[in-house]
Amino acid sequence: MRKYDLVIRNGHTVTAKDKVKQDVGIKNGKIVALGENLAPGERDIDATDLLILPGGVDAHCHIEQKSSSGVMTADDFYSGSVSAAFGGTTTILPFAAQHRGQSLREVVDDYMACAKPKAVIDFGFHLIISDADDAIIGQELPAMIEDGITSFKIYMTYDDLKLDDYDILNVLAAARREQAMVMIHAENHDVIRWITEKLLDQGCGQPKYHAIAHARIAEKEATHRAISLAELLDTPMLIVHVSSEPALNEIRRAQARGLKIYGETCPQYLFLTIDDLDKEGMDGAMFCCSPPPRDKQSQEAIWSGLIDGSFTVFSSDHAPYLYDSSGKLSAGPHATFDKIANGVPGLEIRMPLLFSEGVMTGRMDIHRFIEVTATNPAKTYGLHPRKGTIAVGSDADIALWDLNKQVEITADALHDNMDYTPYEGRIAKAWPTTVISRGRIVVENEKLCVERGSGEYLKRERPEAAKPLQRLVPEMDPKTNFNTKFI
Ligand code: URP
Ligand code: ZN
Ligand code: ZN
Repeated sequence: MRKYDLVIRNGHTVTAKDKVKQDVGIKNGKIVALGENLAPGERDIDATDLLILPGGVDAHCHIEQKSSSGVMTADDFYSGSVSAAFGGTTTILPFAAQHRGQSLREVVDDYMACAKPKAVIDFGFHLIISDADDAIIGQELPAMIEDGITSFKIYMTYDDLKLDDYDILNVLAAARREQAMVMIHAENHDVIRWITEKLLDQGCGQPKYHAIAHARIAEKEATHRAISLAELLDTPMLIVHVSSEPALNEIRRAQARGLKIYGETCPQYLFLTIDDLDKEGMDGAMFCCSPPPRDKQSQEAIWSGLIDGSFTVFSSDHAPYLYDSSGKLSAGPHATFDKIANGVPGLEIRMPLLFSEGVMTGRMDIHRFIEVTATNPAKTYGLHPRKGTIAVGSDADIALWDLNKQVEITADALHDNMDYTPYEGRIAKAWPTTVISRGRIVVENEKLCVERGSGEYLKRERPEAAKPLQRLVPEMDPKTNFNTKFI
């Protein structure tokens, strides 16, 4: 029997830290050796002219999830995980979404039953908590965290999901006690509601008005408020899908003051603008997501946040609703913007488009690319060093990137279940051609090589990133301020 099941040779490994010419030896799904001239494996892959990168970790995607208004995503755990794999992602963290009145255990059991028989790559879950009553926060949530679901998302907007500040504080206190990561959708609900009413009163219901209703200031105010609540309780927090500079600056200010506030952004804020929502007829509906794509200046600001380290993770926020009466247009063919299902697909293009427009143009360092697409999401959500890097002892989750392979992105070419892509016709100037998960070759020669259900559930650690600072910020002198010992 050979020493290795698989050896990747003649390539350069690239991680968040370094680039080294070395072979990768894999045994029983793990990386067991890195070095020159490794002994032959049961199988050898020649990576001459390819880059050997960690498989991506997509920490924000909606798969087989019913939206709060009852619209089902087009992707199930099979098509979603296949699509992710074809784009170089080997770990996904979708949501197990609680609808009000549901127990968290029931929610997780349901999602697990959907995912286990279908996923082709490894997966974990974040919870979505929409019902923050005492039993859920006090008993159910700690049990879920103990079971490895060590992060959860809460919302400041959407009628059926939003928590008020009081509930948010309760949730933050629980996260602090349990050392779980809180993800927050930060938009001011009443600002959006108020503008929406005014727009609809004036007959302005077309998709482009979605971006007017979801004003930048609504995002900035909610981001500021969320950070303030997190600061009050000394609880780390990640602001998801940041779209604009004012919100990004709130995050930067908090980070500069030493707070554990993290930010996430997504492809739609780098590659789309409000002009996409202003397409012929209802076509703009395909680009409606919240917060919405903004303008060229915002795109530049989001790029700078990705490059300068202000953002910690780059996720797809894949929220795939078909452009038909089952999805985007479930409220009718001429639905007003407030009734259009929110979200855009992006699992498969997340890494290739960022690589192409960031790394290949020289704008973004390749190590930073790996950091935001793989290493940081793994660290932020309790999966590192098992996932997100190439190191002895890590899972053999690897993507071989061909920097000479150009791919035209079209809905037909992608592997999700969608009938459109917002990025139709764009050219990716590099692509991950061989994708490996726990030593199994998942994608090779443009073919899927594994069975449905061969992905594994990931019970996650409590993230170091979610550990409270355990120090009082200057404004919180315990003699004159609330003290975290009361939590
Ligand atoms: O509209 C977006 N961004 N995605 C779907 C739901 C969510 O809030 O993440
Ligand atoms: Zn959200
Ligand atoms: Zn989302």
